[in-house]
Amino acid sequence: MSNGPTLLPLGDGAAVAEAVVERILLDRRRHPDRPLGLATGRTMEPVYRRLAARMADLPASEAECLRQGWSSFNLDAYVGLPAADPRSFAAEMERQLVRPLGVDPHRVRLPDGMAADPEAEACRYAEAVATAGGIGLQLLGLGLNGHVGFNEPPCLATAPCRVVVLSETTRRQNAGAFGGDPSAVPARAITLGLRDILAARSLLLVVTGAAKAPILKRLLQGDPPSPELPASWLRLHHDVTVLTDRAALG
Ligand code: GLP
Repeated sequence: MSNGPTLLPLGDGAAVAEAVVERILLDRRRHPDRPLGLATGRTMEPVYRRLAARMADLPASEAECLRQGWSSFNLDAYVGLPAADPRSFAAEMERQLVRPLGVDPHRVRLPDGMAADPEAEACRYAEAVATAGGIGLQLLGLGLNGHVGFNEPPCLATAPCRVVVLSETTRRQNAGAFGGDPSAVPARAITLGLRDILAARSLLLVVTGAAKAPILKRLLQGDPPSPELPASWLRLHHDVTVLTDRAALG
């Protein structure tokens, strides 16, 4: 990434998680009224663990303030998986965030993957984000094929919240939660689009682990943004930080 984004290389995943949590806490103090944008996936697991640990260490009044004022929207959800399914992103948020932090589950929103009309649900979800005032700080992981959220390549910067068909790469990447079987990973998902992501006030792209080194290298090369690398559109945003560990930097 050339113009704009700040690259913040840190030692390891733990240091990255700590830095992300610092940003979240700072954001909550500065802009408690702005919803957070959250991501799921392995990259975020240590982040939420660390956030729960930090919450436990905060003065009781501050922790309570955080809990009471919590408001977040996740990037995406699989179509066809009920929230009660342990493999759904809703269940992941329940395990990693709602229970450990003690926040009201209604304040942790995700698209409804079981909606009878998923396209209509995507529109409703985008509207819910807008009605809440838009995302403040948006956390993002990076797919092995350069996706953010579930914006699979090719993808334009104007892509709205919508239903997408997941690529083979992504279904393989996420097969771990499905007994290692890519064909068991739902074929479709609802995702906030690049348009919604770029509308957030600030973006935090979190990239850890050696497996991400090739795609991060492509992203940092500084080529003009292109549909083939959806994360490259982030370069259009005025406030992007890329937090990465040594392994991901190769
Ligand atoms: C997933 C999700 C993203 C996530 C990214 C990276 O498929 N849709 O929201 O951030 O891909 O996943 P991971 O952190 O497991 O590598």
